[in-house]
Amino acid sequence: MEKKELLYEGKAKKVFTTEDPDVLIVSYKDDATAFDGQKKGTIVGKGAINNRMTNHIFKLFGAEGVPTHLIEELNDRETAVKKVEIVPLEVIIRNFSAGSFAKKMGMEEGIQLKCPTLEFSYKNDDLHDPFINSYYALALDLATQEEIDTISKYAFKVNEVMRKYFASLGIELIDFKIEFGRYHGKIILADEVSPDTCRLWDKETHEKLDKDRFRRDLGNVEDAYEEVFRRLGIR
Ligand code: TMP
Ligand code: ASP
Repeated sequence: MEKKELLYEGKAKKVFTTEDPDVLIVSYKDDATAFDGQKKGTIVGKGAINNRMTNHIFKLFGAEGVPTHLIEELNDRETAVKKVEIVPLEVIIRNFSAGSFAKKMGMEEGIQLKCPTLEFSYKNDDLHDPFINSYYALALDLATQEEIDTISKYAFKVNEVMRKYFASLGIELIDFKIEFGRYHGKIILADEVSPDTCRLWDKETHEKLDKDRFRRDLGNVEDAYEEVFRRLGIR
């Protein structure tokens, strides 16, 4: 499979067309941004780790009945994926208080929620990805009710699968963000799951093993990504 033209360059990935109109190639970068791109940096080795981690975990989802865009890993940084139309919703699941939730709810971070929670942001950089509910999503014609139901069902399933899997690696899945796309009329999981898009804490020490180390200038950013990658055992 060969890259043809650069279709889109995002903050963390480039997307290329291929000969096949149904297939794209994503290329993961080491670039890191935070706070709507205001903070910029590089996390050396991140692209390869996020690519390989996403594919490894997407295979688990496939086996558990959550369809994904994954076709095949091409090399360290590049993967062939199904070309989807992205649903402009960031789907966030939380198991523990952290980040914007902790701030909004006036809670400390790391408090287990009584049950997992789901929220949507409208994917729109100009508006800074505002928090919306499913009624807004319907009213703004971002998705149908049936799509929202499927997305929610898949998101909670993804949480179940990832929580159990990370627990087996000594990692607590605090929260994460995922994105879905439409592929020939069906909803499938797209984008990535990585330390960029998940909060991952060591179960024993509660050490942060994710992008919060970059967002908050906590140091040892590369080490954290490497540590998660090492525990995955896919080197
Ligand atoms: P938040 O607590 O800042 O709302 O973040 C919730 C989760 O979503 C956390 O795991 C980090 C992830 N996330 C992204 O993947 N992209 C983003 O742009 C933001 C703000 C959060
Ligand atoms: N992806 C977001 C941005 O640059 C930030 C984040 O992950 O916190 O703006």
